[in-house]
Amino acid sequence: MDFLKFKNKKLYINNIDLKKIVKKRQTPFYLYSLDQIRKNISLVRSSFKNFNPLICYAIKANSNLDVLKELKNNNLGADVVSIGELKLALKAGISHEKIVFSGVGKTYEEIKYAIQKRILSINAESINEIEIIDKISKNLNKKTNIGIRINPDIQAKTNKKIATGNRANKFGISISEFYKIIKNKKKFNNINIYLLSVHIGSQIKDFNVYKKVLTLISKILTKLKKLNHIIDHVDLGGGMGIPYFKNEKKFNFNKFGELVDKFYKKEKIKIIFEIGRFITGNSGVLISKVIYVKKIKDRYFIILDAGMNDMARSAIYEAFHEIIPLVKNSKKFSKKVEFVGPICESSDTFGIYNDFSLLTENDYACITNCGAYGRTLSSNYNMRPFIEEIVFDKNLYKTVRLRQKIEDLI
Ligand code: LLP
Repeated sequence: MDFLKFKNKKLYINNIDLKKIVKKRQTPFYLYSLDQIRKNISLVRSSFKNFNPLICYAIKANSNLDVLKELKNNNLGADVVSIGELKLALKAGISHEKIVFSGVGKTYEEIKYAIQKRILSINAESINEIEIIDKISKNLNKKTNIGIRINPDIQAKTNKKIATGNRANKFGISISEFYKIIKNKKKFNNINIYLLSVHIGSQIKDFNVYKKVLTLISKILTKLKKLNHIIDHVDLGGGMGIPYFKNEKKFNFNKFGELVDKFYKKEKIKIIFEIGRFITGNSGVLISKVIYVKKIKDRYFIILDAGMNDMARSAIYEAFHEIIPLVKNSKKFSKKVEFVGPICESSDTFGIYNDFSLLTENDYACITNCGAYGRTLSSNYNMRPFIEEIVFDKNLYKTVRLRQKIEDLI
C-alpha cells in the first residue's frame, strides 16, 4: 500500500493526516486512492506494451462509479457478470465495444440487453446458453459475435473457493464439447464464434500456471485452423494475485508479459484480459473505530465498528488483511490481540496479532488491501447499512457514495 505512510507515528495518505479525515465522519468507511490505481494500470500496461491488449476491468472487484470512471479515462474496458454491472459500465462511459460479459447463469433478459447494446462479446459458458443467444439474436434479426469460455481443466494454486479452471468447476465448456460446437456451428445461423476465453481463478501468485493455459490455447487455435474456423480474440481472464502479507512474493507482471508476448508473436491475435484485484486491490482501505477493548484470559478482543458484513473476505476465505493503527503508540499490548467486528458470528474476525501497538476505545484502525472484493462483497447483514466510500486523488478527496440510511433498509 504505497500510498499510506507513517510520519511521526501518524498514518498519512499523500500529505494528509488520516486522523483529520476520520474526525469529520462516521466510521467505518472505505477509502480508495486513484493515484495507486493509476500506478497499477501503468505497471500492467508497461508489462504488456508489445502486444497492447484490451484490459477489461472485472467490475465485480469494485463497482464504485467514480473508480470506474477513472478506469475508463485510462482506457480500460469492463468485464461484467450481470445486467446490473453492464448498466453500470455503460453509465461510467465505458464503450460497448470494450465490454465482455462472463458468467454461467445469464438470463434471457440479460442476454437480450447485451445483444441490443452490441457489446464486444458475450462469453458463453454452456451449449444451452449458446442456443439461447442464437435464438434471441434471430428474434432480434441480428448476428451476434460471441465468445466461448473453455474449461481448460487446469488447477491454479489458490484458495479452492476461488479456483475456476478445474473440470469439476461449473465454469466454461470442455475442450471436446467446444470442438463439437465448432463442427456443428451451421446449426447456429445468428451467432459468430469469434472469441475464446479462459479464466482459471483468482489470487494466483505464480504466473507459471498461465504457461499451461497458453500452450493449450495455441493447440486449440491450430486445431481450429484445421477445422476452418477463425477466432479473432483470445480473452485470458484475470486472476493475477497481490501480496496481502508483508514481504510476500509479488506476481511477476514483467515476466508474465514476456510470456504472453511470445504467445502473441506466434498467434498474432487480439488479446483481452479481465483483471480485477490487481488493478484496485491495494488501492483501498477500510477505516474503522475501536468500540471496545475486551479482555479475556489469553487475549484482548479489539471490537471494531466494521464487521464481516462490511468486509467479508476474512470471514469467507480466512483471508489476511493487515491491520494498522492510525496512530502508533510506543506502548504495546501485553497479550495477543484479536480484531473482531460487532456481528453475531464467530467468523466475524479480522485476525490475531502477537504484539500490537496499544489501542484504546475510540482509536482508529485501518484494514488494508480492501480495494477489491471489499465493498462489493458486503451486505446488510444484521440490518447494517452499506458504508460511505471516499475517493482520494492526489491531495483532494471527496465522498463518492454516501452511507446508506437505516430507514432505506426498513
Ligand atoms: N474474469 C472472470 C470470469 C472472473 O470470474 C473473475 C473473478 C475475474 C475475471 C477477475 O479476477 P481477478 O483478476 O480479480 O482475480 N471474492 C473473491 C474473488 C472471486 C473472484 C471471482 N471471479 C475474493 O475476495 O478473493
